[in-house]
Amino acid sequence: MIKVITYGTYDLLHYGHIRLLERAKALGDYLIVGVTADGFDRTRGKINVQQPLIERIEAVRALGIADEIVVEEYEGQKIDDIIRYGVDIFTVGSDWVGKFDYLNEYCKVVYLPRTEGVSSSELRAEENRIRLGLVGESVFLNKIERESHFVNGIETVGLCALNKDCFNEDMLKLELVTDQYDKLLDNVDAVFIKADPAKHYELVKTALSERKHVLCESPMALTEKEWDDLTATAKSENLVLSDGIKTAYSTAYSRLQLLIKSGYIGEVMSVDVTCTSLDDLQGKWDPVYEWGPTALLPVFQILGTKYSEKHVYSHFSDKEMAHDVFTKMDYVYPSAVASVKVGNGVKSEGDLVISGTKGYVYVPAPWWKTDYFEVRYENTANNRRYFYQLDGEGIRYELLVFLQAIKGKTRQHYVKDQVSKAICKEMGSFFRRENVHKI
Ligand code: CTP
Repeated sequence: MIKVITYGTYDLLHYGHIRLLERAKALGDYLIVGVTADGFDRTRGKINVQQPLIERIEAVRALGIADEIVVEEYEGQKIDDIIRYGVDIFTVGSDWVGKFDYLNEYCKVVYLPRTEGVSSSELRAEENRIRLGLVGESVFLNKIERESHFVNGIETVGLCALNKDCFNEDMLKLELVTDQYDKLLDNVDAVFIKADPAKHYELVKTALSERKHVLCESPMALTEKEWDDLTATAKSENLVLSDGIKTAYSTAYSRLQLLIKSGYIGEVMSVDVTCTSLDDLQGKWDPVYEWGPTALLPVFQILGTKYSEKHVYSHFSDKEMAHDVFTKMDYVYPSAVASVKVGNGVKSEGDLVISGTKGYVYVPAPWWKTDYFEVRYENTANNRRYFYQLDGEGIRYELLVFLQAIKGKTRQHYVKDQVSKAICKEMGSFFRRENVHKI
């Protein structure tokens, strides 16, 4: 008996898949189909597969072509499977030519011509298609444009440039480049905003009133009242309004929070966060705006937003206190403390340490681009290390979650309302220099 094996994601099962499976089966007597697990797809960069594993397996099974279905969960598994199942032929479509030649050592490798004109990526893009406009005056928008290419269904079509110097060539070649916000809004379904935070409220408000979905770099407003107004408008119009804090969307960061909430380090006593840089600030905000929302995220997500005291110490580059260089914010809670240090022009270890009664979580610098963390205990034999792939600094996941929220497929839970609002309050308070001790 000739055994054949083939692998794929089989998302939104289509004619190309069916033809491939039929021809694979015809190569032998017994066909094993490997369907990729969700986590495995994510690590290899396929981030927006629409159907969960169980549905994709059922769709392949329902065709009645496969004799056996296995789940592909890890890098290198193909070799294991070929040996374990005594496979004679490994086959995949011609889009993979050469890629699996190394399996010739274990069985025969056959590349079958790929069916032209159909793919899961195209089906996903057709199903979703959202025209995104970028708004603002930050170099960060260049990254949003670049990362949007990885999310099937989001197409960055335009830019409303409040300051053209921030943007690279790709941005200036977009379908629509304008300095008129209403013109951009007329041509898109959704916007990503990163401008001077003092302009955010008006920009978000205008977009919502034109019935556009909004992803706005945090803080989206500088008072709680403004935040209330924006979220109420979005809700009443059934529009998505999300905070852009890329770290919130990284898998490692989400997982470390789950471990803490599950009691792995006991009761949390302290959260210590540092974000600093010596980079030229051109096109970026002053450090409290640039880093503040990200740095406050673990504090508010882990300890909550109801602190009892706050002390802010800042060093400014000028007498008028217009530009901050380094700021330390201390928060006191009924049974915990937090310390946030942000700076540009000052360098420190950019790590995150969360201390608890049983142990602590250590996220090495730069923690805000985290793909790795450790849970450490008194007895080092109990220490655990966790790694989760992070592509595109979390931006592509942020865009994906935004897209899924627009399509009504997920509820936004990465930055909860109370955290989003508290960050606006803190940033607004600093903007007005309330209780800021000059150092
Ligand atoms: N395949 C094919 N013809 C197509 C699409 C896919 O022969 N038009 C084959 C692939 O070469 C692979 C198998 O079907 O051997 C499963 O492919 P999969 O990656 O699941 O499908 P794609 O449509 O290529 O998915 P994506 O667009 O996400 O890459």
